[in-house]
This record gives sequence, C-alpha cells and structure tokens, in this order.
Amino acid sequence: MTTEQNLAQIGVVGLAVMGSNLARNFASRGHKVAVYNRSFGKTEKFMEDFGETGDFVSGETIEEFVASLEKPRRAIIMVQAGKATDAVIEQLSEAMDEGDIIIDGGNALFTDTIRREKEIASRNQHFVGAGISGGEEGALNGPSIMPGGPKESWEALGPLFESIAARAEDGTPCVTHVGPDGAGHFVKMVHNGIEYADMQVIGEAYQLLRYGAGLTPVEIAEIFEEWNKGDLNSFLIEITAEVLRQTVEDDKPLVDVILDAAGQKGTGRWTVKEALDLGVPTTGIGEAVFARALSSSLSQRTAAQGNLPTGSLKSFEDLGISQEEFIDQVRKALYASKLVAYAQGFDEIKAGSLENNWDINPGDMAMIWRAGCIIRAVFLEKVKDAYDTNPELESLLLDPYFNGELAGLMDSWRNVVIYSTQLGLGAPVFTSSLAYYDSLRAERLPAAIIQGQRDYFGAHTYQRVDKDGTFHIEWTGDRSETALD
Ligand code: 6PG
Repeated sequence: MTTEQNLAQIGVVGLAVMGSNLARNFASRGHKVAVYNRSFGKTEKFMEDFGETGDFVSGETIEEFVASLEKPRRAIIMVQAGKATDAVIEQLSEAMDEGDIIIDGGNALFTDTIRREKEIASRNQHFVGAGISGGEEGALNGPSIMPGGPKESWEALGPLFESIAARAEDGTPCVTHVGPDGAGHFVKMVHNGIEYADMQVIGEAYQLLRYGAGLTPVEIAEIFEEWNKGDLNSFLIEITAEVLRQTVEDDKPLVDVILDAAGQKGTGRWTVKEALDLGVPTTGIGEAVFARALSSSLSQRTAAQGNLPTGSLKSFEDLGISQEEFIDQVRKALYASKLVAYAQGFDEIKAGSLENNWDINPGDMAMIWRAGCIIRAVFLEKVKDAYDTNPELESLLLDPYFNGELAGLMDSWRNVVIYSTQLGLGAPVFTSSLAYYDSLRAERLPAAIIQGQRDYFGAHTYQRVDKDGTFHIEWTGDRSETALD
C-alpha cells in the first residue's frame, strides 16, 4: 500500500517491451514508478523480473494504479496505437482527477492525438501525445522524446522526460516541448518517414555495391564501417554493417536468406499521405515507402523476374571505373540523397507547423534527434546549426554548409544514377532525389505545359510571368486570350 508520502512520480500503462523498458529507465533515474498492465499476470512477471531493480509499485486495477500516483498524476500509455489506446485513455481519464496528465507514448496518428487532446481537455485533464524513438534499447537507456500537448503539462513533465532522455554529446537532453496538441506525434511521424528514406538509401548503396561491383556482404560491412567514421556516421549505417556481418548456419550471410519483402507499420505511409495533403514534395520518403511496397508485391515480382525486356545493360567492367572510385561515388550519392530526404522532411515539419499553428522550431527538432532516436547521426548537428542560423531557411539544401557539401557530391551523384540505370539496378531514392534537386533549381519547369493543358481541356486558367491577372485562351473559338480579372 502506498502512503501519501510514498506516491509514484510517474506511471506506465502497458508492460510489453517498450513500456517495461521505459518504466525501468524512469526507475533507474531515481523515480518511483507505478506500473499497470491490462492482464495482471504481465504486471506480476514484470515485478518478478525487475521489481528489485528500482522503486516500483504495481496496480492490479486501473483505480489502484491511479491511486498510487502523486498529483498532478502522470501516466504514460505504451500500448498498440489505435483502438487499444482509446480504451486505456478512457479508463485512465475516468479514474483520474482534473489537472492530471495522460501521456500517449506510442506511434499514434497525430490527428487522433488532436482529437484525444480535445476530449481530455474538455474534462479539464491534460493529454500529451509524445513521440518516443530509439526502439527497445532507447526506451531502456535513453530515447529521443517528442512531446506535444499543452505547455502547462510540459512544465510538469519536462524534468521527468529530461532525466530519462538520451543526451547529445554536448550534454543536452534529447527532448523538448515540440508544440501544442498533435505536434509531438506529427514530428515523430516525419522522423519515421525520414527513417524510411535513410534506410532505403543505405539499401540502395548496398545493392549497387553487392550486385553492381560484386562485393561480398563482409566487404560491404567493412565499407560501411569506414563510412561510419565520416559524414555518414549514424546509427543506421552502424547497424547495417552488423547486419551484413551476421551469418546463419554454414556461414551463410544472413542478408542472403532474409526474405527481401520489407514490412511497414504505417508511419512512413502516414508521412507521405500528410505530405500529399500539405502539398510538400517528400519524394525521398515517398519512394522509400513505395520501395517497401514493391518489395512485398511478391507474386508480381515473381511474374516479372526474367520476363521483362531490359535493353542492353552493362556489366560493372563496362562502366570503366575502378572499384575504389565506384565505392566512393556511391557514398557521395547516398549522402546527397539523404540530404534531400532530410530537407524534404523538414519542409513537411514546417508546413505542418504552419497549417496547425504549432510554431515548431525546426532547429530544436534536429537538436533532439542528435541522440537516442533511430535516425541519430553526426549530420544532425549540422542540420541544427543550419536552422539555428536561419529558421526561415527555404530549404536545408540552401544552407551554406550543405550547399558546399553538395558541390562536392554532385558529379558522383549524377554518375551513380547513370550507373544504376546502366547496370539495371533500381535505385529509386537516389534517382528521384536527383530529379527533385534538378527540378528545384530549374529556372523553368514543364508546369507551364501542364497549365496550358489544363486551360485547354478544362478552362482552368493560367497566370503569366509578364503580366498580373488570370487568363484563358478561347481554345474552341478564335484562340484569343481573355484576361479574367
Ligand atoms: C523509432 C522507430 C519505431 C519503429 C517504427 C517503424 O523511432 O524508434 O521508428 O517507432 O521502428 O515502428 O517501424 P516500421 O518500419 O515497421 O514501420
């Protein structure tokens, strides 16, 4: 039984791996932690396994759990996103009082978070949708946390979150109040979209090195380990090298026996759907999501294998480039494509922030992604600097540092896109990112043709570069131009 003086600072609902690791993390920072799971057996197991490792109190019923929390009560839900979340929120809210705080730490869709926040606010309670990144290991030892919700709740939650978050090299905790209502889950969604693109560009580099240059998984692991010492230093590059070194029975490389059909739980797809609604071209993330979908279209792929004309392809030797030079060019193409994906992801954050009046500071987002999360990378220091220097930056690609980097990457990037088509190895993010880049910097785009076509078949009108106003051609009549206003 907990006494008034002995109440828990934080409660965790849902004791699957993420929830239980998060609870252990809070406890390891000296907090008293209340734990609750729908099936009490799981709570008992948790107490059996970890009860001695920290100051935990378990609740068999939600009422018991809520009663063990100090006020304002703070309970973080770590359950499967969707219906389960709504049910738990309802139960918690009923058992809680005014001013108490419910935090959803799962990967919820930000529009659900906005809806839930409104409902809970109408009961004078607080609801905070908090993106938490870093997987199981991060939850235990230090994740990157992206909380939204009302500013007042940040005051009650900030110190707790700061105590468990990962720390960047300069010691800053990787957590900040992202913005009101769904801002935190929105940013976590875009984080995941960028994660998809980042993973895909690494995959494309692997594909070119493996099936273009004919290198072995171990040789590619060595290359990635080398890349991990430079600009590309990141968690994802590091773990890719480990995946490539992994073998199964008879020393077979693991990568050769894994079914090449990538799964997805939805956050990448949400990022793209939202980008479409906001009108932000997140092509890198989009191609990465589609690449996973294509990989999983197994029957169509089987039907197509060996059955589609290729035109004349080149072998690696035909390319007339040394292996060493090829490897370096692939690294540069990866870096440039990654830059585009991040630039686009930040564009989406800025657009989402504007649309929803969240006032998100993009530099702060780069700051809290520097450690703990899946896309953590040295590179994010530079992204932070870029947005700190100019929060209004039109595109990350225009930041002087990245602009300078791009100058040194362009030739290789163009070459690698050519090589990939000559070798017949699809590299959708490398290729589409270059197309985006060239379109972004173009003086004239074929959109003029599209406007002409739209006016022709639907009288959709057009504007001119040399005059103000809106115009239409009498296409079916004398083809004269009418000024409409
Ligand atoms: C993280 C991860 C985490 C998870 C996602 C993506 O930031 O810790 O993004 O949230 O890995 O669920 O998973 P999918 O690849 O299955 O969509």
